[in-house]
Amino acid sequence: MGLLAIIGGSGFKRLPALHGINEYQVTTPYGATSAPVTRGRLAGHEVLFLPRHGPAHHLAPHCINYRANLWALRANGADRVVGLAAVGGITAPFGPTVLAVPEQIIDYTHGRAHTLYDGDAGAVEHVDLTAPYCAALRQTLIDACHHCAHDVVTFGTYGATQGPRLETAAEIRRHERDGCDMVGMTGMPETALARELGLRYASLAFVVNWAAGKSGNPITMKEIEENLGLCVERVMAVLTAVAAAR
Ligand code: HPA
Repeated sequence: MGLLAIIGGSGFKRLPALHGINEYQVTTPYGATSAPVTRGRLAGHEVLFLPRHGPAHHLAPHCINYRANLWALRANGADRVVGLAAVGGITAPFGPTVLAVPEQIIDYTHGRAHTLYDGDAGAVEHVDLTAPYCAALRQTLIDACHHCAHDVVTFGTYGATQGPRLETAAEIRRHERDGCDMVGMTGMPETALARELGLRYASLAFVVNWAAGKSGNPITMKEIEENLGLCVERVMAVLTAVAAAR
């Protein structure tokens, strides 16, 4: 079996519980990764880690080299990837600090390098994305939440927006009409590229604010950071349980 890789997002420039760390600068056909690939042990189990916004959180969602990141993880032995995702909540079950394992995703991003089949990349393959997330890895995440006695929402559609600005209230109403339960800025093209690379991929989302227009107040960074802080410990515990799951 290959390695579990974890892609960190907002709030996870590093994984506090990761020990015995080695870092690898990886050369990829797509250019530079967001950071060196980290290999370490989570509760004694070998995992890979990569912070998608970079070590100093300096890469905006549309500036992330998703292709290089996923390619580098696979080249270093990953066969499955958990993408951490700070999100805004749209529908009632997705209030701040809720953990969720989304089931579907809608792509509203544009202008990102979103496929490996670019230029003369050989025969184009049209990968099936009916079920965008790996069912087995989703179940492992859900079981890990239960193992840690943390509530988790086991459904939901993630709307991937362009950012880095937050949405307007009208945009969020539109996303809700489309069927989105949560919004984030990095779920695409990461999810689709993982499928193109043959990586099993699932997302562990944590809600850090009500999406625009949903609380009656403007969204503040203070609120986002406070809610993020309230999620870190549970997310770390769940990741540790996922690393230990066989
Ligand atoms: N919108 C988009 N992305 C996000 C949000 C949001 O409200 N919160 C955290 N990531």
